[in-house]
Amino acid sequence: MKEKTLCLIKPDAYERQLVGKIITMIEKNGFAIKAISFLKLSKNEAEQFYYIHKNKKFFNGLVKYMSSGYTVCMVLEKANAVEELRNLMGNTTPLKAKKGTIRNKFGIDIRHNSIHGSDSIVNAKKEITFFFKGVI
Ligand code: RTP
Ligand code: MG
Repeated sequence: MKEKTLCLIKPDAYERQLVGKIITMIEKNGFAIKAISFLKLSKNEAEQFYYIHKNKKFFNGLVKYMSSGYTVCMVLEKANAVEELRNLMGNTTPLKAKKGTIRNKFGIDIRHNSIHGSDSIVNAKKEITFFFKGVI
C-alpha cells in the first residue's frame, strides 16, 4: 500500500547545490513528489521540528545548523515509503552509511548529513502536517 513520508534536503546540501542530484536519486528510486516547498526555518521552527531531541547534547548545534540556510521540504509517496526513504538516506553518520546511499554520497558529518526522513508512519503524519496543509 502506498505510504507518505516527509523528506527535507538540509542546508548543507542546498548550500553545495546538491538539490537536483538528491531529487534525481529520490525519483529514480520510485518516490513520487506529492508536495514540495522551499524555506529557511526559523530557530523556533527548527526547535519545534526536532523537539524530540531537546535534551540531547547536540540539540543547540542542530537547531543552529537547521536554521542557518535553506531547506527543501517534500512529501514523498511510495509503497513502504518511510522505511524505503530511510534505506536510501543511509546511516546518520555519513562514514557509516552504505555505499550508494544519499548520506554516503553527499553527507559531510553526523550533523551535516544532507537529508532528513521521517522515522515512523506516526511521525511522518505529524511532520507532513508541520510543513503542509491538506496533503494527508
Ligand atoms: P533525521 O531525523 O534528520 O532524519 O536524522 P536521523 O533520524 O538519522 O538522526 P537523529 O538521531 O534523529 O538526529 C537528528 C539530526 O540531528 C543531527 N545530529 N547531530 N551527535 C551529533 O552531533 C548529532 N547527532 C545527530 C543530525 O543532523 C541528525 O540527522
Ligand atoms: Mg531522526
